[in-house]
Amino acid sequence: MSGTSTVLKLNNSVEMPALGLGVYQSPPEETAAAVETALRDGYRLIDTAAAYRNEEQVGEGLKRSGVDRDEVFVTTKLWLSDYGYDSALRAFDASLDRLGLEYLDLYLLHQPVPLEPEPWVAAYKAAEKLLADGRVRAIGVSNHTPGLLRTLMDRTDVVPAVNQVELHPYFIQRELRELHDRLGIVTQSWSPIGGITQYWPHAPNGGRSVLQEPAVTELAAKYGKTAAQVVLRWHLQHGLCAIPKSVKAHRIAENFAVFDFALTPEEVAAVDALDTGLRSGPDPETIRLDSFGRR
Ligand SMILES: NC(=O)c1ccc[n+]([C@@H]2O[C@H](COP(=O)([O-])OP(=O)(O)OC[C@H]3O[C@@H](n4cnc5c(N)ncnc54)[C@H](OP(=O)(O)O)[C@@H]3O)[C@@H](O)[C@H]2O)c1
Repeated sequence: MSGTSTVLKLNNSVEMPALGLGVYQSPPEETAAAVETALRDGYRLIDTAAAYRNEEQVGEGLKRSGVDRDEVFVTTKLWLSDYGYDSALRAFDASLDRLGLEYLDLYLLHQPVPLEPEPWVAAYKAAEKLLADGRVRAIGVSNHTPGLLRTLMDRTDVVPAVNQVELHPYFIQRELRELHDRLGIVTQSWSPIGGITQYWPHAPNGGRSVLQEPAVTELAAKYGKTAAQVVLRWHLQHGLCAIPKSVKAHRIAENFAVFDFALTPEEVAAVDALDTGLRSGPDPETIRLDSFGRR
């Protein structure tokens, strides 16, 4: 074990670790072991989603780890096919069942649906009800742009605690982060080490890797760290929550060994300078309920 994650305070005073394990594309047969390994290494945040189809294995990994339930921060997400008020409440129960948990730490709307706003808003209202009933400790959203956050917030009551968005050195989301700071929303970085630019090679920035950028590898050499550790450290120093995915035990450990060094402000700025302003994931403004087919 290489340290203890720092924690971020959410807008309702709940504390969330600043570093966690993501499990998007973790094959179900490898997910329980990955979660167990991460928890044994000191991770205390696991990020899954109904759409990842591995909630059951996440629950299995939690059990196998022997770590107390109340020491772990578990996030899952509501998929588009379950948007709407009653369907969202049913989907939450189904997720909790698969995870084998009594409550959730964070429930996120996986995507905005600006072209079909009624089910999107109703789904968030269902999340507000789950929060009021004490079934989830915090609620939030994912993939919301500044404009979409405002649209949702104009029609709902609870300010999202978290907005989980694509964020890595090629897409640093400066404007969104500034808005989050003003509204008291924690920014959570998905694809924190740039995974999407690898597995979606035809997207903007596709085929390039932040882990091979000289601005990153030079810092890695300076500190005796890996490129992934430098990039994760960069997230932490920006006050972000990062959720790198790996199913490999040595990388799970590597990605958590980032609490024993610090970048200078100039070095953080040098990594910021890799920003292209281009997202590699789907454009949130154009998402419809059926945009991704059934999951
Ligand atoms: N809300 C959303 O719409 C959304 C979208 C995408 C992702 N996410 C969340 O964010 C998490 C992370 O994002 P991501 O999976 O897209 O990308 P990522 O964490 O940036 O990158 C993951 C990729 O990098 C590899 N990797 C992991 N550690 C490494 C290391 N130390 N050195 C080199 N390669 C390494 C992994 O392979 P191995 O497994 O083989 O190690 C995997 O291919 C997801 O798992 C999910 O929880 C959310």
